[in-house]
Amino acid sequence: MHREEMDEFVEQVNAQSDLLQVVQSYVPLKRKGNRYWGCCPFHGEKTPSFSVVPDKGFFYCFGCHAGGNVFKFLSLIENISYFEAIKLQAEKLGIPMPQRQKSPQELAREREIADLRKVNEMARDFFHNCLTMTRLGEPGKAYFEGRAISAETIEEFKLGFAPNAWDKLSTAFLKRGVKQEYLLSGGLAAERKNGEGVYDRFRNRVMIPIADERGRVVGFGGRVLDDSTPKYLNTPETVIFNKRRILFGLDRAHRAIKNAGFAIVVEGYMDAISVFSAGVKNVVASLGTAFTPEHGKLLLRYAPAIYFCYDSDEAGQKATIRALSIVQGTGADVKVIVVPDGKDPDEYIRKHGAPAFQELVKKALPLVEYRLQYVLKHFAYDTLEGKVKALHAMLPVLSGIREPALLGEYVKRLAQALLLDEGIVRDELRRFSRQPLPLPEAEAPRAPIRQVSRRTDTALQRAGRIAIRLAWQDSGILQHLAAMVPLESIGDKAQREIFLYLQDLAAQGQKTNDIEVADKLSEEAVAELSRAMVEDLGVLSETDAYTKAVGVLRKAYLNLCYIRHSQRAMELSQAGDTGYIEELNKAQQIKTEMEELQLE
Ligand code: GTP
Ligand code: MN
Repeated sequence: MHREEMDEFVEQVNAQSDLLQVVQSYVPLKRKGNRYWGCCPFHGEKTPSFSVVPDKGFFYCFGCHAGGNVFKFLSLIENISYFEAIKLQAEKLGIPMPQRQKSPQELAREREIADLRKVNEMARDFFHNCLTMTRLGEPGKAYFEGRAISAETIEEFKLGFAPNAWDKLSTAFLKRGVKQEYLLSGGLAAERKNGEGVYDRFRNRVMIPIADERGRVVGFGGRVLDDSTPKYLNTPETVIFNKRRILFGLDRAHRAIKNAGFAIVVEGYMDAISVFSAGVKNVVASLGTAFTPEHGKLLLRYAPAIYFCYDSDEAGQKATIRALSIVQGTGADVKVIVVPDGKDPDEYIRKHGAPAFQELVKKALPLVEYRLQYVLKHFAYDTLEGKVKALHAMLPVLSGIREPALLGEYVKRLAQALLLDEGIVRDELRRFSRQPLPLPEAEAPRAPIRQVSRRTDTALQRAGRIAIRLAWQDSGILQHLAAMVPLESIGDKAQREIFLYLQDLAAQGQKTNDIEVADKLSEEAVAELSRAMVEDLGVLSETDAYTKAVGVLRKAYLNLCYIRHSQRAMELSQAGDTGYIEELNKAQQIKTEMEELQLE
């Protein structure tokens, strides 16, 4: 398929897409003039700061700065790539995608992925049959019995056993025609040290197959039968096994998550299996790694709430706090299921039974409540220093509370507990909200999904956006602007990127096109462009606003030049170079022009 065919296809999908209709199928919107407002679906909020201007074809959230065109919206809300969003929209509109010749590399990669999936499925059956149908599986059976894992659960999760031998799986698979290369790249075998042949990675372990959300086996966790180490051995990262993205059990749990309205996240596979078998089916486990923003996104596709149920020991509590900070700011409703005794959910269920666990779920603590209890337990707040630390540990969660009454309640409780004046707590909170302190190292989210951020916004930045809006619609304006202000000199990074991109387009004689932009510009620049298109200009018409904006931009540019020439003059004069006189003259000329601009 040719490039032009693809462009045409995308054009067609774009032309037939109705931004407003698409957004409204996810978010209720209210009309005000030529724009529509609603509560942003990308971060939690109670008052609308999410805006759509159908005439311009852009949306923008003034809270979390998400913005873009119809495809960008779909890619954010469905958690898919930009191109997948185009395909999704094409499907909805019934526009067929042009067929495409795949490159040999693409074909090879697709084949490898398909083959690896097949080999993993074969391995799952191999381990499962070994456990349930052979004598070699007896130690595994005894182990599961000892943990009160029933035959139904073994069937449901297709649990298995890797025999206590060096190459049972490898030999069997090679005989069945599986390429050795796949045994290695799929993480099922390793090369022998002496370089001859391979040996099984998993030996004498009970095997837990791990599937992606569509139920395709992508890897395994293998547990030892005794107390030796490592307790768990997992499939290494492969082309189909990415621990940051996979949640154990999601293939079985996602419908239950949707129905319940929340997902329960536990630390271990065994916990997930136990909780599931106890009839609580909306449960998943992260794979021994920390909970990631990708995990959060994955779960939020099914329900708006996530309940964490980690081990009750110190490490589990730390992991809970870390996970909470990862999902905070995503708009997710976050709660914590506290397991009062017994190390983890699995042990709790074995000790107290399924109904007792179901009660714990009902008593899940809201994030703030959990954080407050944690802070009061872990900080020595009898000294002033301790009080300040405890207070600061609470600020990130407090600043996330949107309801004033609830916030008031927590401020009061915190102040009482720490024996501080409520006013002090409020002052600190206000300071923090203006300039969030970085979270302590261990708690800093690696890549928060979307956070509300207050960016400084100057008159200069506003002027820049007005110029962007007009230049986007008319390349003549861009020319005019470039004559007044060299575009490379624009101070705001995102705005400069947009201007230079527009300049490039114009140089190539191409028109602006919102489809390409999301691909070519950085995330910040796309957001800034969207904001420029969506922003209200007050009472001014677009052209009046532009005239004013150019004045502001030109003045800033002149100021920059003035400073440069003055500095240069000073340097030259200090070096005894008479060239400084010329520099001074230039600076003076610039100053005069600035004063004239002022008068206009
Ligand atoms: P059981 O002792 O079988 O009940 O395990 P658990 O589910 O209680 O596991 P634990 O709380 O010890 O650890 C939670 C998760 O961390 C496990 O499910 C594994 O995914 C992972 N994990 C634990 N130990 C190891 C290990 O030694 N190596 C690796 N790679 N992962 C581990
Ligand atoms: Mn356990």
